[in-house]
Amino acid sequence: MRAVVKLGGALFRREPDVTALKHMGKVLGGFVEDGNQLVLVAGGGENARTYISAARKLGAEESTCDLLGIQITRANAELLRLALASSASSKIPTTLSDLPHCVGPRKAVVMGGLQPGQSTNAVAALAAEITRAEILVNGTDVDGIYTEDPKKNTKAKLMRVVDADKLLGWAMGGEVFAGRYELLDPLAIKIMQRAKMPTRFVSLADPGNILAALQGKDIGTKVVYS
Ligand code: UTP
Repeated sequence: MRAVVKLGGALFRREPDVTALKHMGKVLGGFVEDGNQLVLVAGGGENARTYISAARKLGAEESTCDLLGIQITRANAELLRLALASSASSKIPTTLSDLPHCVGPRKAVVMGGLQPGQSTNAVAALAAEITRAEILVNGTDVDGIYTEDPKKNTKAKLMRVVDADKLLGWAMGGEVFAGRYELLDPLAIKIMQRAKMPTRFVSLADPGNILAALQGKDIGTKVVYS
């Protein structure tokens, strides 16, 4: 199977959690060793937001902040690559056109951001499209997509299925500032829509959730296209 997994910032703490990274590396390493093609996209997390905020206070324009965020996502990708050990390819692609040359069975390709003005969710959607992935799994810090932000409203309900148009409606109301992309940016959703990419959102707190989604189990939130 061909798959792309986005691992959100929750996996990359300010003080990197080596045990959590190793556990994730072991589970995903097992998936590629079974002969599957896998691209992993690392998010920026807290360190990206910290650096972007410092750069903004120093007078950096938004695109410079984005470039700094991209550097942090690549540093996170490097940690993930190390956690996968021999199950990961040594090269971290920095352009989309490099990616198809890097993928293959038995070695995961790990990458971070690509260009300013988007999030790593857009990278994951583009990576899934160009590598003809059969599934895109988006690992986040909550169990899937909720009716509202579950951290702000405890009454928010987990949606088992969500239409991409609904996601796009939410995303269009969001901000386009470095480090402040909400759940998904419009570009990510547009790419998922045009590729009709089978996509599932799950919690990355347990790597088993990611594996379950890769195995086609009904977990978290499934995105559908009308
Ligand atoms: P993320 O997209 O990972 O943002 O990239 P995030 O808010 O940390 O998301 P989670 O926590 O992983 O889910 C961090 C920042 O890097 C820049 C953006 O500024 C983004 O907010 N970036 C990332 C880009 O400009 N282009 C990219 O392709 C990727």
